[in-house]
Amino acid sequence: MKKLWGGRFTKSAEAWVDEFSASISFDQLLVEEDIEGSLAHVKMLGHCGILPQDEVEQIIQGLEKLRMKAKNNELTFSVQYEDIHLNIEKMLIDEIGPVGGKLHTGRSRNDQVATDMHLYLRKEVKDILQLIREFQKVLIEKAENHIETILPGYTHLQRAQPISFAHHLLAYFWMLERDYERFHESLKRINLSPLGAGALAGTTFPIDRHYSAQLLGFEGIYENSLDAVSDRDFILEFLSHASILMMHLSRFSEEIILWSSSEFQFIELDDAFATGSSMMPQKKNPDMAELIRGKTGRVYGHLIGLLTVLKGLPLTYNKDLQEDKEGMFDTVTTIKGSLKIFAKMVETMTVRKEVMEKTTKEDFSNATELADYLVTKGMPFRQAHEVVGKLVLYCIQEGKYLLDLPLSVYKEASDLFAEDIYEVLKPRTVVARRNSAGGTGFEQVRKQLEKARKVLE
Ligand code: ARG
Repeated sequence: MKKLWGGRFTKSAEAWVDEFSASISFDQLLVEEDIEGSLAHVKMLGHCGILPQDEVEQIIQGLEKLRMKAKNNELTFSVQYEDIHLNIEKMLIDEIGPVGGKLHTGRSRNDQVATDMHLYLRKEVKDILQLIREFQKVLIEKAENHIETILPGYTHLQRAQPISFAHHLLAYFWMLERDYERFHESLKRINLSPLGAGALAGTTFPIDRHYSAQLLGFEGIYENSLDAVSDRDFILEFLSHASILMMHLSRFSEEIILWSSSEFQFIELDDAFATGSSMMPQKKNPDMAELIRGKTGRVYGHLIGLLTVLKGLPLTYNKDLQEDKEGMFDTVTTIKGSLKIFAKMVETMTVRKEVMEKTTKEDFSNATELADYLVTKGMPFRQAHEVVGKLVLYCIQEGKYLLDLPLSVYKEASDLFAEDIYEVLKPRTVVARRNSAGGTGFEQVRKQLEKARKVLE
């Protein structure tokens, strides 16, 4: 089978070798971007008088026809033509004759493939931004219904201090907000045109890179042709932002998994977002959350994979760079899927308020309150810590909680204690009084919700 570059060769590769080097099995995902890039390129060739207008028209019509076919899934790609670029060029020549061979004037697959990837990521990042926003909306709505729902807050996975459930949900809102900002900020580097860099050094034809960049909606062009064809930082950034996003989703998954266990029973997942066991009839498993936690691994893998591919590459294009695609495609699918599932999972889960609140009464997460109480009455904090620590120990030995102890026991520990400690010790009071900025106090949470809503406006 003669290749498009067959002129210099005396012998063809065997089919299985072609198969190894081909990327068409996965880069056909770039078909629309490839055609879009070609359309801009050929229009630029016409605009600059490099190709006559009638030939430009023929090529445009041929490409438009291929674009229609691509939309209707009517193109058949062949491994003989290695990648999406050569497949499309071959189809164009079949469609309109040898004039189709003029499309590649002043262009290389090296600037072409980079252009395709910039266009692809621009589109996908915009979708991802939208999905993040939708998830944030779900979190806000859920939080609005649970400002006064209280549960234990944890450190070291040990009950620490009671908090508002809305406060907990909003912590994820702000994580997602940073994810949003990172992806959004990266668009300015994604939205740059490498087209016209040629194979590496530019071209002798009087092209206008700004013209094609403008047609493609790019904000500017790469200033250096070597950089244009060999830069994959924009994909690395994407993978690293995706890794951080997945890390957030994975932490949240872990909480969903814990909360839905019989030990916690804080939430119940909707049946549509849980699965049963083939053997144990009683089981309801949080598979979606587990899968998202698990898929975090593959996204990290793609980041490390590409960093490793790039680390030893001399300028400029090397075939190694073909390895940039599958991890990127898989990451896009993974994070879009995870965001969609997560939003629905949270939206439909049942929050078991009573269990959450009951739990706050069965622990010592109000102990700090008691220490602070003594401090407001003049005792140094260190001493107060000691007094309360002894009371907690006494409770543990007696099988009681702080609210169960009679005032006489308190008085014995310190005569600063008075009847009002019983109000202070109530979990609800404990939450309400944490009114410092960004704290879990109900008033603060309402303010926070207001700010979160503003972000989404
Ligand atoms: N399929 C190649 C890739 O994905 C396209 C660029 C090929 N360029 C080359 N000089 N072999 O990277």
